[in-house]
Amino acid sequence: MSVSRGEFSSRLGFIMAAAGSAVGLGNIWGFPTQTASNGGAAFVLVYLVLAFTLAYPAFMAELLIGRYGQANAVTSLQKMSRTAFHKRFAFLVGFSGIICAALILSFYGIIAGWMMSYALEPVLNIAGVSNTAEWVVTQSTSRNVLFTGLFMFLTIFIIRRGVEDGIEKWSKRLMPMLITILVLLIGYVFTLEGASEGLLAYLNPDISRVLEPNLLISALGQAFFSLSLGTSVMIIYGSYISKKENLVTIGAQVTLIDVSIAFLAGLLIIPAMYVAQAQGVAIFAENGSLISGSGLVFTVLPALFDTMGAGGLFVATAFFILMTIAALTSSISMLEGPVSFVVERHNVERKKATTIIGILIFLISIGIISNIGVMLDFVATLATEYGQPLIAMLCCVFVGWIWHRNEILQEIKQGNDNVETSFFWMVWPWYTKFVCPTAIAIVFIHSL
Ligand code: PFF
Repeated sequence: MSVSRGEFSSRLGFIMAAAGSAVGLGNIWGFPTQTASNGGAAFVLVYLVLAFTLAYPAFMAELLIGRYGQANAVTSLQKMSRTAFHKRFAFLVGFSGIICAALILSFYGIIAGWMMSYALEPVLNIAGVSNTAEWVVTQSTSRNVLFTGLFMFLTIFIIRRGVEDGIEKWSKRLMPMLITILVLLIGYVFTLEGASEGLLAYLNPDISRVLEPNLLISALGQAFFSLSLGTSVMIIYGSYISKKENLVTIGAQVTLIDVSIAFLAGLLIIPAMYVAQAQGVAIFAENGSLISGSGLVFTVLPALFDTMGAGGLFVATAFFILMTIAALTSSISMLEGPVSFVVERHNVERKKATTIIGILIFLISIGIISNIGVMLDFVATLATEYGQPLIAMLCCVFVGWIWHRNEILQEIKQGNDNVETSFFWMVWPWYTKFVCPTAIAIVFIHSL
């Protein structure tokens, strides 16, 4: 039985879906937190440079693998292989990416569940059920299982519908909503006292910090996580793009959207921190480091919203809905990686595969929730600090060292006749062969 494959119906559909995968908690939560913990504007500057010079070339490698292979990550990588050894290596790399996506989803769903519960809290308070409102924002196993389950249900619901009717349709609806809420919130924060001080901290770099090893490594890791690299996701999304499209441009557009939204999120969160500080909320310790670190979004922001009176309830709901939407367009991409593999390699019907895999990942989430203090950090570190850079590096090795240069050119030429004489073609093959694997190896060795 052959399984008919989906395809994005338009360029906009693909851009929204890939940008939807890229834009997520990593942009709106991770990027501002990293910026605040790594010296503000200096981090922003390094991040921007690395996103375009290293993450974008690696992203192009994954998109190309997928569009050439027209299949899930494993099959696509195997199509580029010439020897039995390559084929086994391809299986290892593709399958690891799929497992990595599933692992990321298992903890990402828990955090997204918190976002949903924080969005609900103000509504429950207005409805007068303050006990329930208190319950939804207090750490407990039952709360975590309920909201992770709800979030996974939404993810499964969209992926069951397939590429055009599920991923594309929902990304096209959710991404503009996300950008609108983000811009409205920025406008609002800028009317408050303290915002301009935050703006200065965000935009005025301390150049002396730019070459600090920790800062460089955090910025590169953030850029890879943000573009969803090393997870099989961009390979499978690449396989759904029509051969008529110019991949070089589309890839650049998606990178630009991803980076811009991270930048916008910083424009909201960093000034909001200073506004909160002006209102008496403690943000920085005496040594200048952040008090709540990664808890920023759940401690500083609710404290800020509380000081805004009745309007704060509305702003809080809007903000956490924004987070939930961003998480959802990413989580669907994580589920699509394993689903496409099972559907195409094992001929399982799509709806059935989606439900079974979704439930299995939810069971892993429950395992994490049962010992959240240890497991959340463990799984997140394993998948994002070890898995993603290593697999992304192996994908670059595949393109740079195993795939024939001529075949790459033939693939990239489709939808882009003049690519042979372009700056991209002059630099990128060499880049993917040497620079990307080396730079990623450095990050990886550091994280060991
Ligand atoms: N890029 C997403 C974010 O920034 O939140 C996270 C992500 C999505 C990571 C999809 C991995 C993935 F496969």
